[in-house]
Amino acid sequence: MQKRNVGFELYVYDSLKELSEEDQLLMNAAINARKNAYAPYSNFKVGAAVKMSSGEIVIGSNQENASYPSGLCAERVAVFQAGALYPETPITAIAISAGSVNYKVNRPAAPCGNCRQSIAEYEQKQNGNIRLLMMGEIGQVYSCGSLADILPLGFDNSYL
Ligand code: THU
Repeated sequence: MQKRNVGFELYVYDSLKELSEEDQLLMNAAINARKNAYAPYSNFKVGAAVKMSSGEIVIGSNQENASYPSGLCAERVAVFQAGALYPETPITAIAISAGSVNYKVNRPAAPCGNCRQSIAEYEQKQNGNIRLLMMGEIGQVYSCGSLADILPLGFDNSYL
C-alpha cells in the first residue's frame, strides 16, 4: 500500500490591490458581470470573467430558473460563451466574483463541482492550464495555477 499526498499551491492575496494590473482588470470584469446575475431564488450573485489568449475577456453571470436545476452558474455561462464565440482560442484564466443580496460575502467562493468538471474539459481540449482567481465582495483573493488543482483524480476523455 502506498499513501500519496495530493496537494496544490493556493495563492492568497490580502486584497484585490495586491494582484497584477492584468488580474485586477479581469477580476473587475467579473465584479461588473455580477451585476447582471439573475438570482431571485438564492439571492447569491456570481460574476465570471474569462480571459482568452487573444486578450479578449468574455463574461458570464449566474442565471437561475423557477425550475432550480435549469439555472446555470456564472462560470459555465462564461466558459460556454467563450467556447461558442472563440472555439479555437485557448482560455488562460477565469476570475470569479461572488456576492449576496443578504450579506456581505467576505471570502472567496470556489467553483461548484459541475463547473470544475466543465472548466476541466477546456483545459483538456486546449491542452493548457486555466488559472483561477476567486473573490467575495470584499477581502482576500485566492488564486491557483490550474483548474486541475481543485479537481484531483478528475474524470476525462482519456477513459473513453
Ligand atoms: N453559483 C455560481 O454561479 N457559481 C458558483 O461558483 C457557486 C454557485 C450560483 C448558482 C446559483 O444560482 C447560486 O449561485 C446559488 O447556488
